[in-house]
Amino acid sequence: MILQATNRFNRLKFGQQNSFQPITTNAQGKLVVPAHVIIPAIEGDGIGPEIMPQAQKVVKAAIRLAYGLTRSIQWLPLAVGKKALAAGKQWVPDDVVETLKQHHVFVKGPVDTDVGGGLPSANVQLRKRLDLYQCVRPVKVLKGVKTPMKEDKTDVVIFRENTEDLYKGIEFEKDSPLAKVLIFTLNHIFPVLNKLFNAIFKTNHHYIGDIREDSGIGIKPISEFGSKRLIRSAIQYAIDHNRPSVTLVGKGNIMKYTEGAFVKWGYEVAKDEFPGKTITADEFWKDYGGDYKKSQAAGKIVLQERITDAEFQDVILNPQNHSVIATMNLNGDYLSDAFAATVGGLGVAPGANVGDEYAMFESTHGSAPDIAGKNIANPTALFLTMALMLDHLGWKEASLLLSKSIETTLANGKMTGDLARKAGVKALKTDEYSQAVIESMEALAKEKPKDTSAA
Ligand code: NAI
Repeated sequence: MILQATNRFNRLKFGQQNSFQPITTNAQGKLVVPAHVIIPAIEGDGIGPEIMPQAQKVVKAAIRLAYGLTRSIQWLPLAVGKKALAAGKQWVPDDVVETLKQHHVFVKGPVDTDVGGGLPSANVQLRKRLDLYQCVRPVKVLKGVKTPMKEDKTDVVIFRENTEDLYKGIEFEKDSPLAKVLIFTLNHIFPVLNKLFNAIFKTNHHYIGDIREDSGIGIKPISEFGSKRLIRSAIQYAIDHNRPSVTLVGKGNIMKYTEGAFVKWGYEVAKDEFPGKTITADEFWKDYGGDYKKSQAAGKIVLQERITDAEFQDVILNPQNHSVIATMNLNGDYLSDAFAATVGGLGVAPGANVGDEYAMFESTHGSAPDIAGKNIANPTALFLTMALMLDHLGWKEASLLLSKSIETTLANGKMTGDLARKAGVKALKTDEYSQAVIESMEALAKEKPKDTSAA
């Protein structure tokens, strides 16, 4: 019904023969993207209503310049979170989730979290309900953007597991009945069971229950299935995009059976599923002298590991040693912002949440309530996110045109206040900057795009 109404509305509005259709999938599960496609868009809260229309405007220009009238997007506006509540619906309405599933690919602006109100994050809900298990965040230095780094060497794609870890939301408040039962069980029943099992199975596991009675408790599940499918995607990405290494990041020295297991499963995936394509750090040093160019030339991807705190050191000291990172949910959250800071901050950090059937494109940043409504928000992250989406659709020329024009615009010193202050140039308003990106695109479109792969 919604679709029919949208198509009818579109034909009436534009008087064209174009019939907008949703994306479907073929028998192999691959996306089938019609030339005139309907893409749902959740504009979100805070700065969302300012940056989303600008992003749609630049995408429209990119498509027009790359394909003329042969391709186009009809946006289908949807709402979750407090806007859905205000419309008398659920926080994450079932019909919205259903519509998103029917369309396979959608974009989302930042959505406010209900802090302290007890409602689960709409963002986390969407990732869970659509099983968007990979959060993919490319972080790369853009010319013209002033960064806090002495040398701009960051060019990394972070694969963050999206469905497990402490983000599962299994938490028990201090003094709640379930927290009390859990603490009693862990302090008094588990030590007895541990002794018993050690005796029966002739093992020697050390366990003492010494949890303080006034604790809140959080549970951290990390599964073999969840870890392996994320790491598999990261390795495949490295192969497809000719990247030299995949770094497995976890604090396995402390959390052996969760973060340590994640790293161990990573090596298993590489050995079992990518034989001959990956090498360990030992082999990398022994056979290629620690030179990524040499291992890359030999078609080998280095599978290396870092303890989380050491990786945070590398974010600053040795970003060039990391190309693709695979890590769990919480580490990935922290690392994404840390890496984003090295290239100029959240305003330039795009992202995609991808599963086997659906994909949600959203920037790393939130709704920035402190600057909302002032026409000063930086839409670059959402523009780059749109470029990722176009690439995902297979519309690579438009994707490349958009990302290149963003680089040119910034390199020419045209940027919003958050970046302009640091670069010492005049700040453009959100809409002025968007117009500058479109003008760069028009200039670039006159040159024929050569490369068809997007970052
Ligand atoms: P935030 O990312 O919204 O803001 C952090 C700081 O960065 C603020 O000073 C803000 O002004 C600045 N900033 C962020 N994006 C910017 C942009 N595009 N241009 C210029 N400056 C920008 O993080 P915060 O304040 O922690 O969260 C605000 C709300 O957003 C919360 O309700 C949070 O839960 C939600 N949020 C939603 C996300 C999503 O929808 N994926 C992700 C992160 C937060």
